[in-house]
Amino acid sequence: MGKKIFSGVQPTGNLHLGNYLGAIKNFVDLNNDNENKCIFCVVDLHAITVKQDPKELKNNIRETVATFVASGIDHKKSVIFNQSKVPAHAEGAWILSCVARMGWLNRMTQFKEKAGKDKEKASIGLYSYPILMAADILLYDATHVPVGEDQKQHLELCRDIAQKFNNDFKIDNFLQVPEPLIQKEFSRIMSLKDGSKKMSKSELSDLSRINLTDSKDEMINKIKKAKTDSLPIPETIGELDKRLEAKNLIGIYASLTNSTLDKSLEIFVGKNFSEFKEKLSQVLVAKIDPISLEIKKLLNDKSYLDQILLEGVEKADLIASNKIKKIKEIIGF
Ligand code: AMP
Ligand code: TRP
Repeated sequence: MGKKIFSGVQPTGNLHLGNYLGAIKNFVDLNNDNENKCIFCVVDLHAITVKQDPKELKNNIRETVATFVASGIDHKKSVIFNQSKVPAHAEGAWILSCVARMGWLNRMTQFKEKAGKDKEKASIGLYSYPILMAADILLYDATHVPVGEDQKQHLELCRDIAQKFNNDFKIDNFLQVPEPLIQKEFSRIMSLKDGSKKMSKSELSDLSRINLTDSKDEMINKIKKAKTDSLPIPETIGELDKRLEAKNLIGIYASLTNSTLDKSLEIFVGKNFSEFKEKLSQVLVAKIDPISLEIKKLLNDKSYLDQILLEGVEKADLIASNKIKKIKEIIGF
């Protein structure tokens, strides 16, 4: 049976190689498998949980659509839309916030990381963010949600919320309990400067990540400057375990070439990193440069990108407004 796929990406700029290898590349494969129905959402309501400049936000929404399309998602096969244009998301989030428990949210590690030391100053939205994410997924009866490893806990919360709603109102299987789709390997791409931190758009140093809009030269330069160690490339994964930066770079190579860590180690065993980095730069540029060029080309045609969103919103709204109507009936509104 076909799957119903839903996933979201925040339009906060600087989409990077981690987003691509951890999530978007997976979206493209799912989109190409005709059995699946896919919905990809630009989650602009999530973006405003931290302060955004209105003009930049508008650009970033278009840039996220451009990235989806440039990476190979076909907007005729899949629905691409932005969250704020479908009112059911905000409505659903409110209703589900009355189902979710404080204790569940208090466990969310992403909030702790993002709020940092000064929790009192974080927005309420940042705290309740995972409930909005649950609404996104549950409104479309999604069976599978492709995400990077960092979203696993949010998906577990979404499952708990769906189950509690079904139990509270005694209607089995009304809200579909979704399965996460997290790649076994490479679901967490790390910073090029610190192998213990994930590659992130909010990291200050631009050298820590490959942006999907980087030029060829920028990519090559960043790989050259990426942190490594002085040992040669080992034979087994076990020997890589304490060498975080080395493991990350070889992982990136493996993921870009649709291979495995094991097989990539076989190719490079005994070699030093300068030789490996040259090969890595080659595969990186071959894969990402065409996407980068296409993003820039698409960004010149704003009306085309807006049209994609408009068509997507219409399709998404049809599904979501129907579901929220049923949810309201069940509640007693
Ligand atoms: P975001 O940009 O936070 O909306 O994330 C969009 C998608 O990219 C989510 O599925 C994340 O799990 C994934 N993602 C973000 N950063 C990384 C990373 N460093 N490695 C792997 N996946 C990531
Ligand atoms: N929270 C996700 C992230 O930061 C983005 C997101 C919002 C999402 N809604 C979603 C992902 C629904 C999957 C399904 O990466």
